[in-house]
Amino acid sequence: DRPPEFATRLLAWFELNGRHDLPWQHPREPYRVWLSEIMLQQTQVATVIPYFRRFLERFPDVATLAAAPVDDVLALWSGLGYYARARNLHRCARQLVDEHGGQFPRSLDALAALPGIGRSTAGAIAAQSWGARAAILDGNVRRVLARHRAIDGWPGAPAVQRRLWVVAEALLPDDRLADYTQALMDLGATICTARRPDCAACPVSAECIARITDTVARYPAARPR
Ligand code: ADE
Repeated sequence: DRPPEFATRLLAWFELNGRHDLPWQHPREPYRVWLSEIMLQQTQVATVIPYFRRFLERFPDVATLAAAPVDDVLALWSGLGYYARARNLHRCARQLVDEHGGQFPRSLDALAALPGIGRSTAGAIAAQSWGARAAILDGNVRRVLARHRAIDGWPGAPAVQRRLWVVAEALLPDDRLADYTQALMDLGATICTARRPDCAACPVSAECIARITDTVARYPAARPR
């Protein structure tokens, strides 16, 4: 599958079947995208939505968040778990104010240097906020790509991780990066699921090596023990 075709098929599927009404999509701007990505790191969409709304109401922008006591941030996070995320969120807001004039830096490296933001989250913010040609590689996307290219090995291993990043970058389209990023996440969350992949409904199954060789259940490989 040549890269543009993968994206073309995925985007056509997304038009009809993707999620278009998530609160962080309207408007897609960096503060909202960042907040949603941090909340979604270990928590499902349905749980995140009410937290996201309450959080935005109390902390409408980076400056308000940076100026708030950390205990207020933790209180609004209460119930979401993984509280290091909330502490990093607050630290990140302060760093944005102190070192970046309250704006999100445009470069991926600068984004990924901020507290709580790794390479994938940096890509998700840049692609969704500005349409940057940046790849993401969260757990769902790792599974999709490992299957599509039949990439062996546990995705947590650095060598496997490197191969997956190469694939993720090679598949990027030239435009519509915000939709493409959301589409890839939606495909992993709803079709190319861990336990019950629905290959019959998958827009990119025709070129999926795991599907073609009937080995979908083998990918991604489990952590060696
Ligand atoms: N998980 C991480 N980011 C997400 C997003 N934008 N939509 C749905 N699930 C996600």
